[in-house]
Amino acid sequence: MQFHLQTKDSSYVMQVLRGYLLHLYWGKKIGTYRGSSPVVLAPRSFAPYADPAQPGFTLSTLPLEYPAYGNGDYRHPAYQVQLKDGSTVTDLRYAGHNIYHGKKKLAGLPATYVENNQEAQSLDILLQDRISGLSVVLTYSVFRDFDAITRSVRFENDGAASFRLQRALSASLDFRDDGLDSLTFYGSHNNERNINRHPLSEEMLVIDSARGASSPQHDPFFALLRQNTDEDHGEAFGCSLVYSGNFAIQIEVDQYRTVRASIGINPFDFSWRMKSGESFQAPEVVLVYSDHGLGGLSLTYHRLYRSRLARGKYRDRLRPILINNWEATYFKLNEKKLLAIAKEAQKAGIELFVLDDGWFGHRDNDRSSLGDWIVNRQKLPHGLGWLSTRIHEMGLKFGLWFEPEMVSPDSNLYRAHSDWCLHVPGRPTSLSRFQLVLDLSRADVRDYLVQSVSAVLTDTDINYVKWDMNRHMTEIGSALLPDECQRETAHRYMLGLYEILEKLTAQFPDILFESCSSGGGRFDPGMLYYMPQTWASDNTDAVSRLKIQYGTSIVYPPAAIGAHVSTVPNHQVGRITSLTTRGHVAMSGNFGYELDPTRLNKGDKKMIERQVSFYKEIRPLIQFGDFYRISSPFEGQDASWCFVAPDQSEAAGFFFRILADSSPLLRTLKFKGLDPDTLYENVATGEVFGGDELMNAGVNVPDEKGDFKSYVWRFRRK
Ligand code: DGJ
Repeated sequence: MQFHLQTKDSSYVMQVLRGYLLHLYWGKKIGTYRGSSPVVLAPRSFAPYADPAQPGFTLSTLPLEYPAYGNGDYRHPAYQVQLKDGSTVTDLRYAGHNIYHGKKKLAGLPATYVENNQEAQSLDILLQDRISGLSVVLTYSVFRDFDAITRSVRFENDGAASFRLQRALSASLDFRDDGLDSLTFYGSHNNERNINRHPLSEEMLVIDSARGASSPQHDPFFALLRQNTDEDHGEAFGCSLVYSGNFAIQIEVDQYRTVRASIGINPFDFSWRMKSGESFQAPEVVLVYSDHGLGGLSLTYHRLYRSRLARGKYRDRLRPILINNWEATYFKLNEKKLLAIAKEAQKAGIELFVLDDGWFGHRDNDRSSLGDWIVNRQKLPHGLGWLSTRIHEMGLKFGLWFEPEMVSPDSNLYRAHSDWCLHVPGRPTSLSRFQLVLDLSRADVRDYLVQSVSAVLTDTDINYVKWDMNRHMTEIGSALLPDECQRETAHRYMLGLYEILEKLTAQFPDILFESCSSGGGRFDPGMLYYMPQTWASDNTDAVSRLKIQYGTSIVYPPAAIGAHVSTVPNHQVGRITSLTTRGHVAMSGNFGYELDPTRLNKGDKKMIERQVSFYKEIRPLIQFGDFYRISSPFEGQDASWCFVAPDQSEAAGFFFRILADSSPLLRTLKFKGLDPDTLYENVATGEVFGGDELMNAGVNVPDEKGDFKSYVWRFRRK
């Protein structure tokens, strides 16, 4: 039996052989797969086999769709179950399948979705271990309008005895050869999503997080690229996990130089008890194949994540240009100062004023009050409602910062409920930024959070929420879970967080939610399901941002990338860049400001006015257009990219020169994604060129002296 999944341009083929589900092919679309290169039963020295009559049938070399441990396959397994007798050997065999229109929701987890059943077709394959009663359902969905396939896995205990899931990855992918490079991300706070590409070699590559968040250090995404694949050409295989907690990516080249890559919840420090009749849903993985290089891969992720992962009113609406007071005031805020900032912002055409950290409890620094979501009357004597009304009267929307997942030891919440944080009884709890993590695996804690946050959102006219999270988990344990379920805490926390976000976003559908974790520390598809945009980094320096935003764009659409103009010298790196360059970098994402406009000179205020009105003109292009990377800041002293309207009627190209050279290189910006047969007019000069010329000959970049220069060109169909 064979399963052949087809997207517009790709094929994914599986086969059942002697009960085992094998992986035959993933790559460029094949019309009819007839099996010109069938799996080879290749007995190698010492290869174990179960049937003495068939010594050639060994799992050790077969490409397996969801591999087990213990039956002769020594590559890393996709799952592992510990049975009541202590054994960890199971043997999954094909037991049936079901094909249907549409795509089911994943219980309690974020996932891509369809709006009607014609948009996707799904396949459930049932695998069973006859001895233990373990059933596994592998679900695949193929979209009609996107070149993507999703996978997810559900475990079921159909036996009489409990067992323990020790490992429950979401996908395992076997490739027949190792002529591939891996592409993953690394980083840190203020330096998120650097690109790491290197050839696979005979070793195990592990990229993971055990921090309780997807983290700024890594990202739940990897791609495998043919060695000659570049931005525009060649094969790329992408794998993105829709999850915000601990994850692991493992890429292994075995002794026969075949590759096994897998992704899912980090098995380290994870286990899950499954009683008879219970099930466990592993998160979704989004697979994208492109034979148009990394750029083609990104385009598919952008289109899919923008329209069938992100949800809510703002999915298809223009996002407001905001000003955030954080870098302007930090904790030293008061009504007068905030209103003055808002007034200047409004004059410049900015649309949303966001009040960041420090408005609640007695929070004058980061040592107190998280958990007490009650306005600080010393700083805001008239209250939040009054402030919101004044801001609305100016014609601005009003937004508010929260960090609901945390508690400060110096807070009324902690004094009343010290056991509400993650902790291990009898051991000290580690602080980070002077705060502790609330135990969202507990229903009482979740209820408190929903109630306290929604009280503020109901009492005050609030149009935007910045949902921050500023520390990672330590001493992971929950006061309410039995001993044998303690290792479930980190994942139960994520399920709890998703439940809270589901409730709040449903209760307040008109509010635009932006996710944040000390910047882009939880920039992942899981959070994008609830909040369509993420603050990409606390590092607002324009030059640092070139790399951060470029790296982020490998998977995530610019509409999801929060980017603000801040003051100079920049607060994170001390660099001085022009307002023009800061503007061009920030307007390449979800545009805003994070500075005190009352302190700007007249010239800069005028410039901000011009930037805001320019962004309003190109905003549909940035937020709903296609994004093409042109040159990489990771590879030289310039970065460039362009945005093209979905109907190719318009484009904007950006070029950034980082350090000037004594022998300056002559540069052209060659557009991508235009219609070669259309004439385009340069909006600034009126010159007219064909799309083919703009893409193949390009436009000259001005030869100007000085570091950190930037340029933008806009073209419109003539
Ligand atoms: C971290 C965020 O990334 C910043 O933008 C700011 O909101 C601070 N937290 C406030 O504490």
